[in-house]
Amino acid sequence: MKFDKPAGPNPTDRMRILGKPFDRVDGAIKVAGQAPYSYEYHDIAPNAAYGVMVGAGIGKGRIATMDTRDAERAPGVLLVLTHRNAPKMFGQQKKQNTTSQESSEGSEEAKGAHAAPQLQGRDIKQHDEAVAFVVAETFEQATAAAHLVRIGYSAGKGRFSLTEGARNAKPNPEAEDAHVGDFDGAFAAAAVKVDVTYTTPNQSQAMMEPHATLAMWSGDQLTLHTSHQITHWSTEGVADTLGIPHDKVRCVCAYIGGGFGSKLEVYGDAVLSAVAAQKLGRPVKCALTRPQIFNHTTHRPPTIQRLQLAAGRDGRLLAMGHTTWTGDQEGARGELATEQSRLMYGGANRKLETYIATLDLPKGGSMRAPGEAAGLFALEGAMDELAEALDMDPVELRIVNDVQQDPTTQDKVRPFSDRKLVECMRQGAAKFGWDRRNRRPGQMRDGSLLIGHGMAGGIRNNMVKASGTRVTLQSGGRVLVETAMTDIGTGSYTINAQTAAEMLGVPLDRVSIKLGDSLFPKAAGSGGSWGGNSSTAGTYAACMALRTAIAARMGMPADAEFVDGQIRAGGRSIPLASAAANGPVVAEDTITYGDLEKTYAQASFAAHFCEVAVSAVTGEVRVRRMTSAFSAGRILNAKTARSQCLGGMTMGIGAALMEALQVDERFGYFANHDLAEYHVPVHADIPDLDVIFVDSLDTKSSPMKARGVGELGICGVGAAVSSAVANATGVRVRDFPITLDKLL
Ligand code: MOS
Repeated sequence: MKFDKPAGPNPTDRMRILGKPFDRVDGAIKVAGQAPYSYEYHDIAPNAAYGVMVGAGIGKGRIATMDTRDAERAPGVLLVLTHRNAPKMFGQQKKQNTTSQESSEGSEEAKGAHAAPQLQGRDIKQHDEAVAFVVAETFEQATAAAHLVRIGYSAGKGRFSLTEGARNAKPNPEAEDAHVGDFDGAFAAAAVKVDVTYTTPNQSQAMMEPHATLAMWSGDQLTLHTSHQITHWSTEGVADTLGIPHDKVRCVCAYIGGGFGSKLEVYGDAVLSAVAAQKLGRPVKCALTRPQIFNHTTHRPPTIQRLQLAAGRDGRLLAMGHTTWTGDQEGARGELATEQSRLMYGGANRKLETYIATLDLPKGGSMRAPGEAAGLFALEGAMDELAEALDMDPVELRIVNDVQQDPTTQDKVRPFSDRKLVECMRQGAAKFGWDRRNRRPGQMRDGSLLIGHGMAGGIRNNMVKASGTRVTLQSGGRVLVETAMTDIGTGSYTINAQTAAEMLGVPLDRVSIKLGDSLFPKAAGSGGSWGGNSSTAGTYAACMALRTAIAARMGMPADAEFVDGQIRAGGRSIPLASAAANGPVVAEDTITYGDLEKTYAQASFAAHFCEVAVSAVTGEVRVRRMTSAFSAGRILNAKTARSQCLGGMTMGIGAALMEALQVDERFGYFANHDLAEYHVPVHADIPDLDVIFVDSLDTKSSPMKARGVGELGICGVGAAVSSAVANATGVRVRDFPITLDKLL
């Protein structure tokens, strides 16, 4: 089904099952430990050997010497793979995976789903790049033998600092810069302006489940049980890297313990397990260690961001400049921190520029809201500073600068499909009690605590992707839904089951659902916040096809209603189950899109209101309460969507106050490479967060009338926290995270 004009009324509008806060349909087996994660398929591969990866101990240079003899002789060892005996692999021929706005626009398919080649020579490009892969009968034997691989390096001089790299950074080819009007003239002439520089650090996705794979061959057919967000990206990526046809690789990603972008690409666990399993003729499994995850896989690259905002006395933006620097390996995209500044606010004179420095750190990649999450720290922080300079309420400043069409794209008028930022601001402010805020900093105290209130807006680009589903009406009237869509903890199982139940008029417990297998219809996968809307749109399309097939079989008109377990038309009503009396009815379809994504600017919106308490003695910051209002079109499940927002807000508070990878510039690696030293919030750090959804229907986005919500929660949170800290203390920290040393 091609979605190429705005959605009219359709069966999803009944909202008897969709929208309701159903518990996760996969929740019970998950908490009972019965949902197998990739490392846990013991039954299907009882003879699996254990692979342990050895990572490079330098960030840049060459392997000078390597001695694997002790490792090979160690007990239980079956194979030691190194650059000497690894097969030739093939680098990415196509564009790298991306879940950020500019590079993926208009692309229905993954461009060059990418699995990094492993063990291809002596050159070392990053710390913890694989230099050996030791396979043994047990995990302990493999781990012990991995320590016996002796490697001498000749270390090169690496570039590990963005501050230094920024001096000769180049324009970033992955970014879409913009120059509109006369920025320099307007900025120089304006009555009120701010010109401030913010910085954000390297951050880690730090998802719970490690990257892990079980690889098995049957003849020339490879099956990977692997923890990956987008099934066809991993399937095609591994096939391309190994130089085998796509249809020779099957990936099963049934349960995934979080991704946040870290599982969009494929790493050594999958590629090396596949190679070893083929060489040994038996299954091989590997889970990366936590330190390897931090340095072998991806992270959010750092940014330096200069914001130049100028306004008239009425607060209207006259000039907006956002210049950013980021760093990444050669050819990688870094963090595209100007993205939100294209769309967030008006202003006739605009300058958006993005520079990238080559760094020899681990390769950067997508992390929850790539672009916006880092960019909004700076844009929304600077807006708060502009409000201060204007002596204007920061909510009113945003409202004055709201736009209902894309303010940057000049060659055509591009209205927003559905933009409710102002409603988010007003509803959030009312619920929070924003009118009781004291605009002057440092005025509110609670004993030795300084209390402050801050707010910020948020935006996340909305993307849609082709997505297929197969739906079967089984005998007895049960419905089976199958799609290669993944559930990374978000609720994909539940909302796709709800969609089928709503579309076919059956209770939710009549629906069985299977996800995360590349043998199922190719699906959007979990990335870029497109998964929920796109995969349910695919399920919608398949259900429409199934309704047509059922109606035809039963001699009912094509527009028959499916409701209460019945098919109804023209006074006739027959049980749905009767349609499967002579065998199951199967339908499969894929949702594809016309150009509504280009005709309309599509984005989800947020407004965050935050109260912090800062110890006047130690400078410690605690978030005391937070109310956030979100606009994401139709909410498909009020509970799982709320959980996504709570998770995003929590991650945003972590980014504001704790998260930073510390670069050891001697060796070019992230030194705090475990969850003890890379701080993310724990329960005691997070108060009871308050989530409001501003209801609307986005008829331009998909037949589901929904938009992305998975990454929205984090967008803007950091600036709300930093502005609250500034309100509490009078100190504006522009270098994230806001650790207490920066306040004293
Ligand atoms: Mo997301 S950062 O595309 O998982």
